Amino acid sequence: MSDEFAPDWLALREPYDRAARSRALAVAFLDALPDQPRLVDVGAGTGSNARFLSESTDKAIAWQFVDQDAGLLDRISGVEGKKVCIDFAPSPARIDLSQCDGVTASAFFDLVSEDWFARFVAHVSGQPLLLTLNVDGRFVWQPGDEADRLLMGRFAGDMQRDKGFGPAMGFDAPRLMIDCLQRAGYRVTSAPSSWRLGPEDTAMLTALCGFVGDIAGDGLAAETWRLRRKLAITEKHLSVSVGHVDLLALP
Ligand SMILES: C[S@@+](CC[C@H](N)C(=O)[O-])C[C@H]1O[C@@H](n2cnc3c(N)ncnc32)[C@H](O)[C@@H]1O
Repeated sequence: MSDEFAPDWLALREPYDRAARSRALAVAFLDALPDQPRLVDVGAGTGSNARFLSESTDKAIAWQFVDQDAGLLDRISGVEGKKVCIDFAPSPARIDLSQCDGVTASAFFDLVSEDWFARFVAHVSGQPLLLTLNVDGRFVWQPGDEADRLLMGRFAGDMQRDKGFGPAMGFDAPRLMIDCLQRAGYRVTSAPSSWRLGPEDTAMLTALCGFVGDIAGDGLAAETWRLRRKLAITEKHLSVSVGHVDLLALP
């Protein structure tokens, strides 16, 4: 997805992320932390994850926001913290965890490879983790379309494209992450955090169909899918559920 880190896209998706996320797992994570926890937000973007968590607790969280995009870090609002602009794709050890009580992320870990994630888990060495909004590939379109299967297959392939961390886990992320965390001795709890987009959510539907349609490339099937989806959005009879999973991992 070419615009997947654009600030406008992160702003558009934020209310849907908030509605989808598991409050129970967020509270369990926050309860497991000290009274004034120091948290690292990995791939923080514009701070959506920190806003959600800060509003979910009375604890005064000392944030460290880590991201490679200075422009996104500059746009963080509503939460205070230290901003660290760094590309951590070469190694998760580039993320300084020496002064933290827990690590969290949202909409990030499906970008990384299984190997990178295993090295990340070794690096965090037993800290509490809340890793949310990991895509799992469960798309339910209403109405269905004869080309959904073809396009979703191409989309799944693109989700596994190397984004600098090795072949991305993509839709396999939740399953592979749970396996890895359990092997490292974590107790893992998962909860669904799927977006539910209805006919009125035209901007989100347009963006989502744009991402899928762009990846699908040329060909009659892709072209007619794009046209039918555009019409369905305009006529307000398209809905889709996009599967995500939140993970809480406690030592
Ligand atoms: C899909 S966005 C999620 C942002 C934010 N967590 C949210 O939920 O809105 C993924 C984030 O990972 C960051 N990112 C991607 N690759 C990175 C890398 N190699 N090093 C550091 N940050 C990276 C992007 O800049 C972007 O902010």
